Amino acid sequence: MKIIMLGAPGAGKGTQAKMIAAKYGIPHVSTGDIFRANIKNGTELGKKAKTYMDAGQLVPDSLTVDLLIDRISQDDCANGYVLDGFPRTIPQAQCLEDALAARGESVDYAINVEVPDSNIVNRMGGRRACVTCGATYHIVHIPPKKEGICDKCGSGLILRDDDKPETVQNRLKVYHEQTQPLIDFYSKKGVLKEVDGTQEMNAVFEDIVKILGA
Ligand code: AP5
Ligand code: MG
Repeated sequence: MKIIMLGAPGAGKGTQAKMIAAKYGIPHVSTGDIFRANIKNGTELGKKAKTYMDAGQLVPDSLTVDLLIDRISQDDCANGYVLDGFPRTIPQAQCLEDALAARGESVDYAINVEVPDSNIVNRMGGRRACVTCGATYHIVHIPPKKEGICDKCGSGLILRDDDKPETVQNRLKVYHEQTQPLIDFYSKKGVLKEVDGTQEMNAVFEDIVKILGA
């Protein structure tokens, strides 16, 4: 099962992608997480990506596409995967289509998690993330058991550098200009599914399971 998560920054793509990955036993592949791991490890890729991410801009396709295609070519992706944060532009979606078509494959579902901009800024300010294992929390909606500590691995939680209100506004602008057109792209391919992302996290997941099948 090859699934793409679509939605604005903070819509809950990562939250839902992790739940899908756990239930269906497929890898969760997040380009944002891959970049953040590279930043944490001080790699060349991380240094390049950070300047764009901190400004709320997209990392150039030249740094993103090959990385993603390599990742989904690994053995653990043989039975499918859930992509979170990729594709983000029409050229990225086209590269993915071409790479899959070369293997006789295609995307099965593009799930758009719909949340209006007015809800987003509030969600982002409350987000806390674990840089060690990638788990995400919200200080009000989805709090960790112990404040500032990851339930899953015990590491400290951080506020992402790009979750400052002014950067969030820029990410939303970039989303509307460059990523929202993908909704139409996947609708035309007949694989688009929409879910109401303003519901509580488990209700959103129930709607996704109805689409994917138990
Ligand atoms: P990325 O890491 O992909 O960030 P994003 O798309 O901006 O999305 P977020 O991770 O911020 O939000 P999310 O939808 O995953 O929401 P979450 O589940 O955390 O990308 C970061 C940057 O990397 C980009 O800006 C770009 O620079 C670069 N990049 C990455 N991929 C790229 C690509 N392909 N091309 C170019 N550049 C790329 O939820 C948000 C918060 O809400 C959390 O606190 C969560 O706990 C809470 N929450 C979740 N669901 C609910 C709910 N139902 N109710 C209440 N709260 C909820
Ligand atoms: Mg995310």
